[in-house]
Amino acid sequence: MKDGVLNMVVIAEESQNNTGGKFPDGPNTPRFIQTIQGIFQPRKYLEERVLKYGDIYRAKFSGFPAQVVVSNPQAIQELFTADSKLFESGSGNTILQPLVGDSSLLLMDGERHLHQRRLLMPPFHGERMRTYGDLICNLTTETISNWEIGKTFSARAVMQEISLRVILRAVFGVDEGERFEKLRVLFKEMLDSFNSPLTSSVLFIKALQRDWGPWSLWGRFLRKRQQIDELLYGEIRERRSENNVERQDIMSLLMSARDEEGQGMTDVELRDELMTLLFAGHETTATTLAWALYWIHHSPEVREKLLKELEGIKTRDFTEISRLPYLNAVCSETLRIYPVAWFTFARTLKVPMRILDYEFPAGTMLSPCIYLIHHRPDIYPEPNSFKPERFLERQFSAYEFLPFGGGNRRCIGMAFALFEMKLVLVNILSQYTLALANKRPIQPARRGITFAPATDVRMVVKGKR
Ligand code: HEM
Repeated sequence: MKDGVLNMVVIAEESQNNTGGKFPDGPNTPRFIQTIQGIFQPRKYLEERVLKYGDIYRAKFSGFPAQVVVSNPQAIQELFTADSKLFESGSGNTILQPLVGDSSLLLMDGERHLHQRRLLMPPFHGERMRTYGDLICNLTTETISNWEIGKTFSARAVMQEISLRVILRAVFGVDEGERFEKLRVLFKEMLDSFNSPLTSSVLFIKALQRDWGPWSLWGRFLRKRQQIDELLYGEIRERRSENNVERQDIMSLLMSARDEEGQGMTDVELRDELMTLLFAGHETTATTLAWALYWIHHSPEVREKLLKELEGIKTRDFTEISRLPYLNAVCSETLRIYPVAWFTFARTLKVPMRILDYEFPAGTMLSPCIYLIHHRPDIYPEPNSFKPERFLERQFSAYEFLPFGGGNRRCIGMAFALFEMKLVLVNILSQYTLALANKRPIQPARRGITFAPATDVRMVVKGKR
């Protein structure tokens, strides 16, 4: 964010501006304290603020201009349906830069973003997406084939194993061989560096991003990333020399893409986009699947209803599985109650914008808060209870239920993630009877920029079906 824009926001905040609209109120707690609260006590902090200041309030985080946290569906509708040329999102995603690089779709804006999005969308939709159905079922069955009665396992670890292999196969067309074995291990290790609120803080507080050697948190991350880069560049070099036009995978699609001047992507651009897909395309799905297994086994009624719906279903009938109403409701409720992303990307205004009664100056970062919207009692009565039925009784708008964000930045992997979740769950539940290893409730906690179960979801195999 440029200093000039930051100043504009500060001036507007101080003067409450003179255009008739107001700027939202918010806490005056120092930025650093708000940042720490946001990392370590996000739930308490969000819920308290919304009660005190309402569903549109101002927050301040270290390294960012004033941010406005929005959990009002009408305001979100206005924002998501406004001309996307009026705001930027990529420029506010610099926190992800160390992971995905400067040439990632996540950090792009304007024409470049649109162009790259158009290129990456088709493989994750429609018929192209369905071609991954057998792969998802096979990888799931293979991964769980060694389960024996009495075995306990970590739902997160198993779900991550499956989703990482699925995305590697979709992106590269292969996931076997030394290079991909190494890539799988390194990727898991790299993301596990940020598996607690304490270690996640390094992503949010730039001053902590120092290489103090291989034993320091940031040093370890940099070394893992370096090893991953070597593997990715190795694959890029090999593919360039091979020049195989028969390949149908996403990497080949990216390599054959040309811009208006006929230029292809550079090695660095390719690396950044590959990292983006590997990162965005598996952790999110793995976490949601771990939560789904938790919730299904947390409430016997939900499990029974789901198993009843699955009776007689063929695990390879992708169309039928995609349409199962209760399975869909279970997946939706899982994504509602503890979404993986608690915020969509922030939308930074390029021009002043009026939304409801508020007048926001250029430079304001508007941050739709998925978690708060999903916990509004006026939309979701008893918001802290897991009730899939609510999705059968009512249709929620795209501004009330938005686990995948919305507008011009809506997740490109939404259809793919839902498809994968449903197939994985059906395959597991139709092969084994499972139970939670202990009944203690699990809360969400920060894991890097996402939110995941605070403690491992441990499960036990009770029997074969
Ligand atoms: C349960 C799984 C997933 C969840 C909850 C999720 C959630 C999200 C959210 C909240 C956003 C930001 C949207 C916004 O700001 O409006 C996003 C963007 C994105 N997601 Fe996902 N995602 C999931 C799976 C995937 C998968 C499987 C892929 C792989 C293709 C993927 C790729 C992306 C990309 C590339 C973007 C950036 C889009 C852009 O900048 O235009 N996601 N996702």
